[in-house]
Amino acid sequence: MAEGRVTIGYLNPLAKIGGAERSLLDVIGALDPARYRAVLFLPAAGPLVAAAERRGAKVHVTPLPGMVLAAGRHAPWLSLAVALLAPLLILPTLIKMIVLARREKVSLLHANGIKVHLLTCLMKRVLRVPVVWHLRDFSAGRRMWPLYCRLAAWTADALIANSQAVAREWEGCHPNVQVAYNGIDLAHFAPPEGDPRPRKGYRVAMLGVLTPWKGHGVFLDALRLLVDKGSDVQAWIIGDAIYDTGGHAGYRGRLERQVAALGLVGRVEFLGFRDDVPTLLHQTEVVVHASVSPEPFGRVVAEALAAGCAVVAADDGGVPEIVTHERHALLTPPGDATALAEALWRLELDPELRRTLAEAGRKRVTEKFALADNAPRTTAIYETLLKDR
Ligand code: UDP
Ligand code: GLC
Repeated sequence: MAEGRVTIGYLNPLAKIGGAERSLLDVIGALDPARYRAVLFLPAAGPLVAAAERRGAKVHVTPLPGMVLAAGRHAPWLSLAVALLAPLLILPTLIKMIVLARREKVSLLHANGIKVHLLTCLMKRVLRVPVVWHLRDFSAGRRMWPLYCRLAAWTADALIANSQAVAREWEGCHPNVQVAYNGIDLAHFAPPEGDPRPRKGYRVAMLGVLTPWKGHGVFLDALRLLVDKGSDVQAWIIGDAIYDTGGHAGYRGRLERQVAALGLVGRVEFLGFRDDVPTLLHQTEVVVHASVSPEPFGRVVAEALAAGCAVVAADDGGVPEIVTHERHALLTPPGDATALAEALWRLELDPELRRTLAEAGRKRVTEKFALADNAPRTTAIYETLLKDR
């Protein structure tokens, strides 16, 4: 299958937009239309449908039962029930997807998350096409890991990891694990001519999905400590809950109560999910990343640097592959509100340090994480698999 136009069937486990989805949209948007056609399968309707269509993909919504969407590591009993009932619950959707994939003449399946990795195990047997699993999460600690690892070897022809840290988990599990960093559209994030920073005032923002492991609580504790030092900080929390999986309900309410209990009302504003992230970043001095579990990659770190912000990030997972401490950003131990407050205070007092870190950070992202340089890594993997057929 070396010649002609081929159809890639993409599978994503949700239709809302987080980092995995932004990265998938970038991959689809960068495809050469002379060689590739993208068909995306989603388990529900949502904002990803229109976003993918704008990038030229054809989208099929093949609904999965709510129970399956809600299963996950934060809902262990539900997950057990779903695992036991899986054939019954997912079979109708699976059949529909296989029929559509045949009709669309899909030549390769690219699955962008754990739940859809599992769907490809059966799809591959019927469709007999190469399968790529995109690994965007750490999984070795999960109960299903031994099975997951075997299924990967049984099903996936290639695994694409979003960082070396994620790839390392799979050593010994699969013979073909490749790292493809997420690319950042530099023009989309670039600060405007005559960047208004430094402005009067000190705005610090946390950007990301509202989910407990992202460490918003640590951020709020750090803000309290920062204000106690005499800071003039104003904070934005940009993002909303996007996951259907259990364990996320009520998180925003808890954070709002924490803001009140810490006496931070008027200093912290929740902006909800925003589509104009670059514009918001251009009005921000420092972006905080505070994940309390290892971050598989951390697009927000690279995006913030591309937008000309200084960054303080949690020193774990894929983050140290993006930035070096004191050179491109300040890294602090995950979960350590005191260290985060100290880093933010240091940056508030020293606009020159903010400027030099932001400048070195933007250069780093330009050299290593540009979309134009990184998107071809994924298509190179497709080409190898298609050639082998
Ligand atoms: N994001 C967004 N609007 C928001 C909040 C977040 O578009 O209101 C995007 C953000 O720009 C980034 C992604 O969501 O592209 C978060 O990605 P990251 O990889 O850092 O974390 P994830 O949420 O995928 O774990
Ligand atoms: C996942 C990870 C995040 C990563 C994103 C894109 O959502 O949680 O760290 O940046 O995928 O690969």
